[in-house]
Amino acid sequence: MAFIVDVGQEFPRGLEGVIACKSAISAIDGEEGLLIYRGIPIEVLAEKSTFEETSYLILFGELPKKDELENFKKDLKENAPLSDDELSFMKSDSIPKTAHPMDVLRTMVSLLGVADKSIGTDPIDIKTERLKKIIAKIPTIIGAFHRIREGKEPVAPSDELPHAANFLYMMRGEKPGEEEARIFDIALILHIDHGMNASTFSGMVTASSLSDMYSAITSAIGTLKGPLHGGANERVLAMLEEIGEPEKAEEYVKNALAQKKKIMGFGHRVYKAYDPRARILKGFAKKLAYEKGFGKLFEIAEKVEEAMIKNLSHKGIFPNVDFYSGIVYSALGIPKDLFTPIFAMARVSGWAAHIIEYLHENRIFRPRAIYNGPIEKEYVPLEMR
Ligand code: SDX
Repeated sequence: MAFIVDVGQEFPRGLEGVIACKSAISAIDGEEGLLIYRGIPIEVLAEKSTFEETSYLILFGELPKKDELENFKKDLKENAPLSDDELSFMKSDSIPKTAHPMDVLRTMVSLLGVADKSIGTDPIDIKTERLKKIIAKIPTIIGAFHRIREGKEPVAPSDELPHAANFLYMMRGEKPGEEEARIFDIALILHIDHGMNASTFSGMVTASSLSDMYSAITSAIGTLKGPLHGGANERVLAMLEEIGEPEKAEEYVKNALAQKKKIMGFGHRVYKAYDPRARILKGFAKKLAYEKGFGKLFEIAEKVEEAMIKNLSHKGIFPNVDFYSGIVYSALGIPKDLFTPIFAMARVSGWAAHIIEYLHENRIFRPRAIYNGPIEKEYVPLEMR
């Protein structure tokens, strides 16, 4: 078996187009800009479903019957609260109040694993109990840390509110209005799954070694944080605020492109058309922006979109899910640095589904590399170097 040495062979960088597995969870048509979850178009789920119902669909493959949905919601509610130890750890100096919420989320999910005494017996429990616990606790972790860093007492999850509304309640300390809670619920649905994206793949790689669910989800959170992936939404808003005026948008885009900078919220490894999620989020961004006094931010975003479409749509570069989500969240009073944790709050259902699906026919992920280093190099003793 020879070394795989570099003889100039081509290979897909970033595993572009490489098939990692078969999956029945979601499918993307990058040319037409289509996304289906278990066969149902995302537009239909955004209109008719809820985060809990779509999470059930993604995890178990079918829309839940009434009792199945009630039991699933009950499981999430029962697991939503944090323990006094978990809350006091977040309040302690071990977690600086200036820490980025994605780092706190990654740390707290890891802490859940340390505290889970049952982990030794069945680390990779594909019965989803552990994953449901993580799905349930993520909104509580984010909401609690946000209030702690503001010097306020965390608010325990309410028994009456559904998952999405409960997050807004735990973040603000007051119950959200029906319309804003529904828009936030739809935003979560749109973020639940997206095939073999980097964070999903990262969680699957960790689980494929039969590590444990907390490690797998922690890997996924760490991967989602990056600005090329889930971290883009926060940077889009910072960019819009930096541009400041709609009439400055075109100049900003031209300068950035001239310096070979990437404009956050645009482009996609798979979509070479308008991201269908961005289309739905743009509608809500427009509605909420004008209702809540963020109209200028929306106008700047539209001008950036116009300039990018003019300059790069010929290369298949269009708005992606991260371009308008931040305006929706800002209009809901959510600070920028919570945007990516919110992405994780939704995508954790997709991560869980792919991990469970892959484990049913597991094989550890282990690709190869072309070796382009030296061969038969001499060992030179220290005194002669
Ligand atoms: C998400 O994979 C998923 O499904 C992800 C996601 C999900 O739901 O999980 O959809 C969520 O991560 C959305 C993407 C969020 N990231 C951003 O908005 C960051 C900005 N986008 C780019 O970094 C980029 O478009 C990526 C990372 C999204 C995709 O990168 P690729 O497929 O590796 O493409 P590339 O970087 O090789 O770019 C190809 C060409 C380059 O030009 P050339 O060198 O060929 O001349 O397109 C250009 C790039 O410069 N390009 C951009 C651009 N994106 C690509 N130019 C300017 N601005 C951009 N945003």
